[in-house]
Amino acid sequence: METFGERYGPWALVAGGSEGLGAAFADDIAALGLNLLLVARRHGPLDHTASRIRDRYGVEVRTAAVDLGSALGLEEVTRLARLVEVGLLVCNAASSHEGPYFKASLVKYRQVIDVNCYGVLALIDACAPRMIERGHGGIIVMSSMAAFQGSPYVTVYSATKAFLLSLAEGLAVELKPKGVHVLACCPAVVRTPNYLASRPADAKPTPVDIEPDLAAREALRALGHRSLLIPGAKARMARAAMRLMPRGAAVSMMAGSTRAMYGE
Ligand SMILES: NC(=O)c1ccc[n+]([C@@H]2O[C@H](COP(=O)([O-])OP(=O)(O)OC[C@H]3O[C@@H](n4cnc5c(N)ncnc54)[C@H](OP(=O)(O)O)[C@@H]3O)[C@@H](O)[C@H]2O)c1
Repeated sequence: METFGERYGPWALVAGGSEGLGAAFADDIAALGLNLLLVARRHGPLDHTASRIRDRYGVEVRTAAVDLGSALGLEEVTRLARLVEVGLLVCNAASSHEGPYFKASLVKYRQVIDVNCYGVLALIDACAPRMIERGHGGIIVMSSMAAFQGSPYVTVYSATKAFLLSLAEGLAVELKPKGVHVLACCPAVVRTPNYLASRPADAKPTPVDIEPDLAAREALRALGHRSLLIPGAKARMARAAMRLMPRGAAVSMMAGSTRAMYGE
């Protein structure tokens, strides 16, 4: 039986690996014995997470403080990724605008698309050809439950997550015969610091809230066994119910919760 490290090691690149769900992925992956290349924009949280993981698991951790929405950032991360054998890529960094569509500019939406769509393609381009050559590897693409229908007040973000879901599902079939496993991970609500900060201070937890470590653990377990995961048992039940609804009803239901948080 191959170990996780043999199949997906020796290095993992975690985009957005400094905080929230990305930091939870980094912890779990290091616990499985893989070295890490962590990518995010800010040095402070990156260095903090990297040294915590080095101390706790004794693996090698490298960091890249780059903007995955910029050409220079993508060049640098590609250069660093090609210095090591990346067997696992976690495309977790994301940009979003929460609020009415016309409260953000086209420039902001360009940035959301650059990070969430083109940035993910560039990361896959940097890592997957070598995985294919070696005949093994894994790619986790963080999508969202918002990908399954239009999601008002996070409209462009949800459209990019639909792109990522479709991308991962297609690639999963193309790359499976080459030994590379691809998983689309579609959480409902993960209680990450940034998500909690984006909610009104008095907002109560939703029934589908889960902690970042559960989402990361379920995704790493699912890799290689399926191509789509909704982490959290209650979120899976919610998705099963929403699948039965006419599409318009699902959009209205989504609007019910996003309007309360981000609407006018
Ligand atoms: N939290 C949820 O409820 C939820 C639900 C569904 C799906 N998801 C998805 O799960 C993933 C993680 O969510 P999260 O809540 O943990 O996100 P987060 O707290 O916003 O963390 C994002 C990570 O990405 C980095 N990052 C953001 N923009 C970047 C950029 N332009 N270039 C490089 N790094 C960047 C951040 O560090 P810096 O700020 O220092 O760059 C941080 O490390 C995302 O793809 C999100 O869409 C989350």
